[in-house]
Amino acid sequence: MLLLVLGTAAGGGIPQWNCACPGCAWARVHPHWRRRHASLAVHTGEGRWYLVNATPDIGDQIEARPELHPGPGPRQTPIAGVILTDAELDHTLGIARLREATGLQVRATAPVRQALLERLRLGAVLAPYTSVTWRELPARGAEPLDREAGGLQISGIPVSGKRPRYAADAPDDEAWVVALRLYDPASGASALYAPALAAWPDRLQQAAAEADCVIADGTFWDDEEPRRTGISAHTATGMGHLPIEGPGGTADRLASLSARCLYTHLNNTNPLVDPAAPQHKRLARLGIEVAQDGMVIEL
Ligand code: MLT
Ligand code: MN
Ligand code: ZN
Repeated sequence: MLLLVLGTAAGGGIPQWNCACPGCAWARVHPHWRRRHASLAVHTGEGRWYLVNATPDIGDQIEARPELHPGPGPRQTPIAGVILTDAELDHTLGIARLREATGLQVRATAPVRQALLERLRLGAVLAPYTSVTWRELPARGAEPLDREAGGLQISGIPVSGKRPRYAADAPDDEAWVVALRLYDPASGASALYAPALAAWPDRLQQAAAEADCVIADGTFWDDEEPRRTGISAHTATGMGHLPIEGPGGTADRLASLSARCLYTHLNNTNPLVDPAAPQHKRLARLGIEVAQDGMVIEL
């Protein structure tokens, strides 16, 4: 299994266009502090890739990776489709950027698809530009990802009913947010991509315990970070992101797994944005990594 890390930042990115916090200010002058919105590319076969989430940075993210460049035909792209873990704007706005595609396949759970079709009206908006095929991301069992290549299987492990703000009054559903499980029957390798963790249900623990690699929500270092930095009146948990450290934090959970574990979806207020922050040493002692834009993960 081959995964490309296309971005590792939470909504807004680093730097965020309207943010003068220390992390964003430093990222403006130090390119190695910069992070694009969290996303992955998954290799499914010779010259075929699926993107996991479609971010506002999708154009630059594709340009940054030769593997994702078009050719040899004039409008031939190796990008076979997009898989969504949730309906948040930082994970879905990039779909509209792909409107030049001849056709586009999007895999999502039912509540995510409904939010995009009925709230963002993406189906009606994109219909004059391209043909979007919506396919179910199974919340139970596993299905082949790419029928035209390879044997990679996917499933979406339901994580929480956290809805995007634009769909706050939409019906409850456990599959609003899923952790994407990728399984390669040829090698037996499995990866879990969970960039939005409002909760850590038992079924997630089970999938994490079986995985070879877990890439998890590292939005905030601790629960008070959003309030302390003045970006929100809510705690991290209140904003739908389990913190890394402290009671109910995810670091201890990840440290107990045998999988290679990495954090992604870092908010610009997270001390981990500073490559020299002592928090990196704390994670290293636990055997946990912080994902970097451009990382290649082979399983
Ligand atoms: C989140 O991760 O909580 C959302 O992406 C927030 C946002 O809308 O930017
Ligand atoms: Mn987000
Ligand atoms: Zn900032």
